[in-house]
Amino acid sequence: MNDKIAIVTGANRGIGKEAALGLAKEGMTVVLACRNPESARTACEELRSLTQNPNIAAMTLDISSRDSIRSFVEEFKNKYGRLNILVNNAGVCTTDHRRTVDNFEPNIGTNYIGTFLLTTQLLPFFEKGSDNRIINVISNIYKIGWFRLKKINDYHWFRAYAVSKYMVLLFTVELAERLRGGGISVNAVHPGIVRTSIMYTHRWFDILIRIILSPFFIDVAEGARQIIHLATSGGAEDVSGAYFHKTRRKRIPRIYNGQKLRAALWEYSSSLLKNRTIQDTVF
Ligand SMILES: NC(=O)c1ccc[n+]([C@@H]2O[C@H](COP(=O)([O-])OP(=O)(O)OC[C@H]3O[C@@H](n4cnc5c(N)ncnc54)[C@H](OP(=O)(O)O)[C@@H]3O)[C@@H](O)[C@H]2O)c1
Repeated sequence: MNDKIAIVTGANRGIGKEAALGLAKEGMTVVLACRNPESARTACEELRSLTQNPNIAAMTLDISSRDSIRSFVEEFKNKYGRLNILVNNAGVCTTDHRRTVDNFEPNIGTNYIGTFLLTTQLLPFFEKGSDNRIINVISNIYKIGWFRLKKINDYHWFRAYAVSKYMVLLFTVELAERLRGGGISVNAVHPGIVRTSIMYTHRWFDILIRIILSPFFIDVAEGARQIIHLATSGGAEDVSGAYFHKTRRKRIPRIYNGQKLRAALWEYSSSLLKNRTIQDTVF
């Protein structure tokens, strides 16, 4: 694994940090792509000291901003020029009503739009002739994520979170099909209900979550297990377009996997890459 280069988004804490730790232990070069440079640096130092792997680096990425994604990709290209593993982990489940800088509802703008824009712009750097892997961290909540593209900015909080994760699942399947046979596998993982800060909303009922639900949460090591497995294990490269609920592969029900919806989402998302402002593109 020593010659592999991986990017993990949102790797300064939670599941992303644990996944980055797992990859760094394998000896690969790991780029922690995080929006807060200070907390990224702290995580970087901690992971280097835990793994004795000097090839861990922090780079700034705010996945909710198209400009930040573009700068990140440019910097990554100049520093590394090639990529083998991309873990799309960064995510929010926010009650905030404020739109992202690109005018999207924040859950959808961060979790889906950012993932799409980053991944597609990084595709040219995946190493030719190598075994490359993309792992998208989603949630089993995708099942309540029915959406209409015309209403992309009308969903809120938990519903918007579910929509964003459903969109990432559709993107996973569509990208896997488009890349089939091209040396890049693409899979989606629901990590389980994991004890991280995303489970808290800064509302009064956090206390109930802490007392009643949190004893049932799993720890980050367990939450990151399948992500690390899909990124590093021999044989995992043969699986693509699959959805994993923790370590178990689960069939995506046909009603959630419509080819027309996937194609429409792809077309809409691709239009964001063209020379139009995102504001022009949002319905
Ligand atoms: N915990 C669970 O039970 C659970 C269940 C299903 C799926 N997931 C998914 O697992 C992933 C990781 O979540 P977690 O549980 O580890 O939560 P977490 O501890 O809150 O970590 C979220 C990470 O995403 C980063 N992030 C958020 N917005 C970002 C942005 N605009 N640009 C770059 N990074 C950004 C955060 O960075 P900052 O430190 O700067 O905020 C943080 O590093 C998410 O995609 C989440 O949806 C979690």
